[in-house]
Amino acid sequence: MIIAIDGPAAAGKGTLARQIADHFGYAYLDTGSLYRAVAHAVVKAGKEPGDEAAALKAAKELDPAAIDPKAIRTGEIGQAASIVAAMQPVRDAILAFQRNFAENPPGGAPGAVLDGRDIGTVVCPEAELKLFVTASPEVRAHRRWLELKNSGSKVSETQVLEEVRERDKRDRERAHSPLLPAADAHLLDTSDLSIEAAFKAALAIIESGRT
Ligand code: CDP
Ligand code: CDP
Repeated sequence: MIIAIDGPAAAGKGTLARQIADHFGYAYLDTGSLYRAVAHAVVKAGKEPGDEAAALKAAKELDPAAIDPKAIRTGEIGQAASIVAAMQPVRDAILAFQRNFAENPPGGAPGAVLDGRDIGTVVCPEAELKLFVTASPEVRAHRRWLELKNSGSKVSETQVLEEVRERDKRDRERAHSPLLPAADAHLLDTSDLSIEAAFKAALAIIESGRT
């Protein structure tokens, strides 16, 4: 069983994917963390995120088990991730890892939940269930801003909204694997949904898809 969850920045994909994976005992992969880790390695090496040779080197050398979740959760790395993610060779370099995770979930789990931008369209087009999670840019920026504030950042909500819009635009308009719902994806707008309500709505979609 493969569940694909896609959508724009801070829509609640990861929160939902984790809850679903816990509920069913499936393995969970945050594919955005792979692009963030590539971007982080490029920046750490003193290169620009747009430096394709540096990004490809980082993608080929990426060790998903060694990703430091704290270092990659910044606004700067989010922007840089969307720059390296627009490069097809970078995407190609981390595709096999994602597919293998979906098809052979670690720990012998009976299923996998992957979240990102192109899971339902490119990474796992055969996924049994696809969700495309959205929320208004204002709601998403507010959620991300709260998260950053709680981790000590002084960034303004206006700046977070600007960054969210910029990243969405780059992800939607890129030539390779743009952010877009698969034709067979179920849309879930979480703008007015609490975390709990979004989880319930997702479970209802999953159950209805199984009958
Ligand atoms: O993975 P993605 O970037 O799509 O979003 P997330 O990390 O799951 O959620 C972004 C933030 O929104 C987190 O702080 C969640 O707790 C919060 N959230 C929320 O307030 N209400 C929801 N229905 C879903 C997420
Ligand atoms: O958590 P949030 O939604 O803010 O972003 P993320 O899922 O960590 O993804 C960071 C960036 O990686 C995105 O803006 C995309 O450019 C890229 N990405 C992608 O291209 N394909 C994926 N499957 C996942 C992420």
